[in-house]
Amino acid sequence: MLQRVDPLRPDPAIIARAAEILRGGGLVAFPTETVYGLGGNALDAAAVERIYAAKGRPAYNPLIVHVADPARIIDVARDWPDNAARLARSFWPGPLTLVVSRRPEVPLGVTAGLDTVAVRVPSHPVAQALLAAARVPVAAPSANRSTEVSPTTGSHVEKSLGDAVDLILDAGATPVGIESTVVDVTVDPPVILRPGMISRDDLIRVVGALGDPAKKTGGEARPSPGMLDRHYAPRATLVLTDGDHARTLVDRARREGKNVGSIFRSIGWADSSGDLVIALPDEPGGYAAGIYAALHRLDDAGVDLIVVERPPDRPEWHAVLDRLERAARQG
Ligand code: TXA
Ligand code: MG
Repeated sequence: MLQRVDPLRPDPAIIARAAEILRGGGLVAFPTETVYGLGGNALDAAAVERIYAAKGRPAYNPLIVHVADPARIIDVARDWPDNAARLARSFWPGPLTLVVSRRPEVPLGVTAGLDTVAVRVPSHPVAQALLAAARVPVAAPSANRSTEVSPTTGSHVEKSLGDAVDLILDAGATPVGIESTVVDVTVDPPVILRPGMISRDDLIRVVGALGDPAKKTGGEARPSPGMLDRHYAPRATLVLTDGDHARTLVDRARREGKNVGSIFRSIGWADSSGDLVIALPDEPGGYAAGIYAALHRLDDAGVDLIVVERPPDRPEWHAVLDRLERAARQG
């Protein structure tokens, strides 16, 4: 069931009902500042099982545990390294996830059998209110079927998960728009496992240096199990290519009678096909906030092909490019 809530001041009665569902072992989808999460009590192994079942998520891909307050990290983490404390102080609440060692109370289902656990304190007022009221740590992957595009509105969640979730708190569009930056702080220097809008430079300013997973300077850091698969993928085939080539591809596909959608970074291209040509802001923050909604819209329109103009290869676009490249991967 979809329940509208005010994004800034959610009705306490609605939040109380959602918290009750979580404490009773049920699933609640809720907005975070990044994307919508599919929440269940992280200390309840049966609830965690329901999350995997609802998403069709492979058992090897661990979940992120969300808490209202950094002080509650002690419920799930065995160890809190200095780098974790520094990063938490700088970026929480906010779109950063830290991988730390797991307390034995955390069911192995949450961490897919790993001895580490991913934790995050989200800043969205609805997430904050829900986590405070639930008084349990909440395991929440993105609220979509596995491999699909992540949801940034309540209707995206409803479309993807439908009745598999007991309640959807719908607070409209999420402001950041792509998933949190994931950083492994069990190794020193820490290693980025998934890029996000908190950038490499932002992190380096706080911890001094980061390990390079490719060069293994991060010692034991293992890749995020979930980052190996095809991901964030629309139903249509997605092609990521430079501006001029993108225009050529779109024209050719149309001539061939294909139903083609496209996403550009500027509106300087005369076009008449309305809804199927989406212009996103030529700036990483605005682009990230709109990209998943754009992909959902084109999929809903039933296009066969989505042509995306490749954003510039610059550090501030890194997280967005990562998502687009994964979406373009045919799997
Ligand atoms: O912004 C976000 O992070 C959203 C919102 C809902 O918080 N959540 C999210 O969750 O994106 P999910 O499940 O779609 O992605 C979690 C990522 C996966 O790539 C997973 O492999 C990684 O975090 N992860 C979780 N626990 C881990 C662990 N112990 N070690 C390494 N990677 C882990
Ligand atoms: Mg996900």
